[in-house]
Amino acid sequence: MTLLLDGKTLSENIREEISKRVKAITSKGYREPTLAVVLVGNDPASHIYVRNKRKACQKVGIRSLFYHLPENTTTPELLDLIAYLNSEEKVDGILVQLPLPEHISQQEVILSVSPRKDVDGFHPENMGKLVARIEGGFIPCTPLGIDLLLKHYRIDPKGKDVVIVGAGFIVGRPLALLMLWRDATVSVCHIHTKDITVYTKKADILISATGVPHLIKGDMIKEGAVVIDVGISKLGDKVVGDVDFDSVKHKVSAITPVPGGVGPMTITALLLNTLQAYEQNMG
Ligand code: GUN
Repeated sequence: MTLLLDGKTLSENIREEISKRVKAITSKGYREPTLAVVLVGNDPASHIYVRNKRKACQKVGIRSLFYHLPENTTTPELLDLIAYLNSEEKVDGILVQLPLPEHISQQEVILSVSPRKDVDGFHPENMGKLVARIEGGFIPCTPLGIDLLLKHYRIDPKGKDVVIVGAGFIVGRPLALLMLWRDATVSVCHIHTKDITVYTKKADILISATGVPHLIKGDMIKEGAVVIDVGISKLGDKVVGDVDFDSVKHKVSAITPVPGGVGPMTITALLLNTLQAYEQNMG
């Protein structure tokens, strides 16, 4: 029997707990945890992601502030807003939705967010804590969400061959560091990998984060593997992942569905990081 790793239900349960924690805080007369969400431009997918994040905040009692800047915003203008949010006592977390328009320096923006408010975990101080296994930093939301999902289903990466397909800044690279932290043997495949199948076939836990629909087929995986699908793409009218679910599902021991797997866990991790920022800010 194949186990479906149900990120939707686990998310609902964790969000229920977050909601209780927020109520306990505010009922004592303290202010609500607050997340500032910054979106530059009009990328339709980013709009949807931001709307979902803000809705999730609202449902658990986290206040979200929305800063929507025009496409032609300059890097200094965006840095000014971030400097203001850094200094604002009542803002606990800052999230700048990526990708930014081409003309804005993503690097400068990431460096400008206070590491103490960096709920995305993208600042080098937080990435460095991930490298050095220092607790108390912020772990990027999708890797953290996957870690929580694996923990819930008692899938321990320790000593396992974990293969990550995709070496992006938001998921693949920080996830590789987190899986190393969990004592896995980690391989990271990317666009220049000669033959990804050599790696995917060896994976005890295969995690794909490329955004290439149906890249991973049944004949590329080991019998009994755990498969985590981070991809979200549109194929016609259907939302599909990186994994060709139908050809893979009979071969694996466990797999995340798309939608309803990693996606909701990413947003749940953002809520947890925001609560962590609040507690560290108030404490
Ligand atoms: N764009 C896609 N994923 C993310 C994310 O986790 N954080 C931010 N800020 N932008 C994204």
